[in-house]
Amino acid sequence: MKYIIGNWKMNGSKTELDDMIATLADTKTQNRVVLCVPFTMLGTGGANVSIGAQDVSAHDHGAFTGEVSASMIAATGAKYVIVGHSERRAYHNETNDIVRAKAQMALDNGLCPIICVGETMDEKRAGKTFDVIQSAVRESVPADVQDDIIIAYEPRWAIGAGITPTRQEISDAHRVIAETLAYMGLDGTPILYGASVKANNVADIVSIDNVDGVLVGGASLKPQDFLPIIENAK
Ligand code: PGA
Repeated sequence: MKYIIGNWKMNGSKTELDDMIATLADTKTQNRVVLCVPFTMLGTGGANVSIGAQDVSAHDHGAFTGEVSASMIAATGAKYVIVGHSERRAYHNETNDIVRAKAQMALDNGLCPIICVGETMDEKRAGKTFDVIQSAVRESVPADVQDDIIIAYEPRWAIGAGITPTRQEISDAHRVIAETLAYMGLDGTPILYGASVKANNVADIVSIDNVDGVLVGGASLKPQDFLPIIENAK
């Protein structure tokens, strides 16, 4: 079983989501499929697919105009929430501390946080990849985790770029994350790879050690792109 998690970002419509859910209902798979959709599209679901959000407030409730709390997301029936996606880190200045607070809120409300970590091109060029992802895991994962969490390794330079790291680069990054999680007493936590995953590279990517699934952006929007990814991830 592999996790295949789609991140629709700020794309799609309710009609397209209904269409995707209907298509997935007819698809037999051993994989666990999740669609993380904009807040306004939460409150739906179907056979063979769980629904998630793409962000959550670090606060419980109160005067935080525009924010959506974990309990509100959970009340829609959603089971997952992405936290610390690189676009949140880049455009909304989310630090590891903020990401950890958001992940804690998710856990407190019965949601599984999908915690994203990854290096920028500058950090990669400076040879800091392992340091960055190690400290992101240590600082973004809440203390005393008792429930399910998922880590997603997303090299920031490869997101939406149509390029993927080499097998060796993915393997090395996932090994570092697995070792860091084991050190924290969280062995067995699923570690997903994300950035430019497509139908034609997913089989190769999920065959790498310590890769438990994929987080898919652009190629999760249309059934004709997403279904072959689900089918090819074995
Ligand atoms: P991409 O996005 O698949 O379009 O590269 C991945 C992500 O941002 O989660």
